[in-house]
Amino acid sequence: MDYKQRIEKLKKEKNAVIVAHSYQPMEIQEIADVVGDSLELSKYCAADSAQTIVFCGVLFMAESAKILSPGKKVLLPEIDAGCPMADMVNAKSLRELKKKHPDATVVCYINSSAEVKAESDICCTSSNAVNIVKAVENNRIIFVPDKNLGSYVASMVPEKEIILWEGFCPVHDLLTAETIVKMKEAYPKAKVVAHPECLGEVLAKADYIGSTKKIIEYVLESNDSEFIIATEKGVVDRLQKMTVGKKIHLADTRMVCRNMKKNTIDKVINALENDIYEIHLDKDIIEAAAGCLNRMMELS
Ligand code: 13P
Ligand code: SF4
Repeated sequence: MDYKQRIEKLKKEKNAVIVAHSYQPMEIQEIADVVGDSLELSKYCAADSAQTIVFCGVLFMAESAKILSPGKKVLLPEIDAGCPMADMVNAKSLRELKKKHPDATVVCYINSSAEVKAESDICCTSSNAVNIVKAVENNRIIFVPDKNLGSYVASMVPEKEIILWEGFCPVHDLLTAETIVKMKEAYPKAKVVAHPECLGEVLAKADYIGSTKKIIEYVLESNDSEFIIATEKGVVDRLQKMTVGKKIHLADTRMVCRNMKKNTIDKVINALENDIYEIHLDKDIIEAAAGCLNRMMELS
């Protein structure tokens, strides 16, 4: 039996589904039941009937799945797959900021821990951040943890005051406008497509800005045939498989999320066979964080 058949057999035995983020290694994307962005995967996990979810992504994503489906078993095949940006804010420091701005509404990016979500009023993802901030009735917003996404949202919703946290994604933050200029010199016909976790100077040079899902849709639907992709390498690998005759360039070859790449086929099999690593969260945290995530779901 090859590994694909073995995984299918284990999935049936365990009533399990495998979900994977677009930044996962290609061999993981190939065995997944669904591949998507943070928002899509959260929605899928909540709606699917399988009792076990094997989340091929990073910790905050598996936690979000557990918060939305507390009765299900959620497994993260590699427990050390964290998100450095999510770790840049914790509940205690957020509580301190809230004390300084008691009249502000807290919007937290989904790239945050369950404890931070429990301290926040409403969640957002890169697909819906602008719409969520627009929809919040308050004009004063604390936005955590990504200062780049927060600044982008502030530029799109100038009527609101956005209080930023100093977090960032090390993978997206390393890309500079200078590199984009060099890439455009090398590939003058290419359209620049960027994730809003990139620096403002990069977004200013982009032809299109969107979440991983929206980036993929844009490239698939576009009449253009060459693109410089300013997000993690997994999206480029996926697009190269999905498109024929289109040239897809990664904006900077260093844009690889080491945490996303910690997952392997062996670890997925281990997760299915031995029920590890199961996500356990405190009941009160689940309840408070579910309020934050569900308010987002209602608006998106
Ligand atoms: P998406 O919400 O676009 O999937 O992004 C998640 C992420 O971690 C980006 O670095
Ligand atoms: Fe976190 Fe950045 Fe990796 Fe996304 S790409 S999971 S934000 S470190």
